[in-house]
Amino acid sequence: MKGRLRFVVTAGPTREHLDPVRFLTNPSTGKMGFAVARAAAARGHETVLVAGPVALRTPKGVRRVDVVSARDMSAAVEEALDRGPRTTVFIAVAAVADWRPAKTAARKLKKREMPGVLRLVRNPDILKSASASVKVGFAAETDNVLAEARRKCREKGLAFIVANDVTEKGSGFGTDTNRVTFLRADGSVERLPMMSKLAVARRIVKACEALARPA
Ligand code: PMT
Repeated sequence: MKGRLRFVVTAGPTREHLDPVRFLTNPSTGKMGFAVARAAAARGHETVLVAGPVALRTPKGVRRVDVVSARDMSAAVEEALDRGPRTTVFIAVAAVADWRPAKTAARKLKKREMPGVLRLVRNPDILKSASASVKVGFAAETDNVLAEARRKCREKGLAFIVANDVTEKGSGFGTDTNRVTFLRADGSVERLPMMSKLAVARRIVKACEALARPA
């Protein structure tokens, strides 16, 4: 394909360790993010996939960087976006933990050493601070789905956001299908029907191509 872009995609959860055997995380399996990376590579784009801990095979033609925590993910994204002059598209699909324990013990904590209250500190917002030609986010919501997604789109400076009602059957975490709505920075709204995550991914990649190379 002519005019290859560089796609940097995050996928999966992050783990925020309290000690070597305990961590905070969420149910993301990486399926949606891996589908986006697969769709981008299949269109001939240079594709870097920054993946949290998941049990999925790397899609063909994709360079994968495995990370554990939000801070690891942030550093890997920064590095991937920084390489060379090619136009970059950053698609943040990962369910990044917003908080991490204030302290991580180097060895397993004994029960008697466990704090009754866990002190947390904020993780960096990877998407908000990233600099790319086109930035796209996801919003996994349980209520006020479109309003919350719209707020995130504005606050993170995105070209568009993919709103994901994770309470809907067949949608969200761990499923092979998804029903999403694209909310664009110009205010336009596109509701997609329930489809496979790969079909959603193809629609996202196409939308990014149009934004990166306006007609
Ligand atoms: O992995 P699967 O099992 O296939 O599930 C897919 C999914 C439900 C994880 C995916 O479709 C999805 O909705 N991902 C976004 C998860 C989310 O909760 O996002 P958020 O609302 O916390 O964050 C909004 C956006 O900012 C996201 O693009 C997120 O990647 C990004 N973000 C958030 C926090 C942070 N510290 N850094 C970020 O980059």
